[in-house]
Amino acid sequence: MRTKIIAGNWKMNMTGTAALDLIEAVKREVADVGKVEVVVCPPFTELKAAAAACAGSNVMLGAQNVHWAEAGAFTGEISAAMLQSAGVKYVIIGHSERRQYFGETDETVNKRAKAALAAGLIPIVCVGETLEERDDGRMEDVVVRQTKAGLDGLGADISRIVIAYEPVWAIGTGRTATPAQAQEVHALIRRTLCETVGGDVANGIRIQYGGSMKPENAKELLSQPDIDGGLIGGAALKAESFAAIIKAGV
Ligand code: 13P
Repeated sequence: MRTKIIAGNWKMNMTGTAALDLIEAVKREVADVGKVEVVVCPPFTELKAAAAACAGSNVMLGAQNVHWAEAGAFTGEISAAMLQSAGVKYVIIGHSERRQYFGETDETVNKRAKAALAAGLIPIVCVGETLEERDDGRMEDVVVRQTKAGLDGLGADISRIVIAYEPVWAIGTGRTATPAQAQEVHALIRRTLCETVGGDVANGIRIQYGGSMKPENAKELLSQPDIDGGLIGGAALKAESFAAIIKAGV
């Protein structure tokens, strides 16, 4: 059985006390929740304080990006070792906002995933089609290509990764994929994994859904056979809605 994993992607939101208050509130809400992994992914500047706040609780810490080089002249970038030293365990890689606005490609996603794994971090690798790609009948091609290319050559470490299927048209739009639509793509991703790494490994890899997941739709999405958690944007910025989604996954 795959343990469900619910992660909050705070994106470029929250500073100082607001960030810490949110973590404290999430900790209170989920203190007794077993069987689900809970992750919060604040901006880089809040990571160290967030790590201290998460210590000893069942809330784990993630970051929103990582560079592939170990160190060097890469102004503005953050290495996997830096994340490690800040107390980070998970890192989101290849989010569609990074693909769309910051030139992220399948190749850079793959390099980041390798660097994260080499440093002992768990990558949450995002895939997902745009509305135009879906309407043109290219959803399958895009999702299979992103999955294969993003995870190419990870070796045995691939069993440690998490995948997030986030249809771009559902992110921040309030327009969620239906449970059937999401399940169809999750099953496609699982089949793709089966073909590349075999059933044993593929069946252990968690695939999260992301895109306007909220308390009202979480239970139905999370009860689909291949949906193993959620990557939550807007609804993760309030402890109540984030916790309600987590509890829907228990
Ligand atoms: P929303 O939940 O705000 O749609 O964002 C989803 C997302 O992009 C999480 O990474």
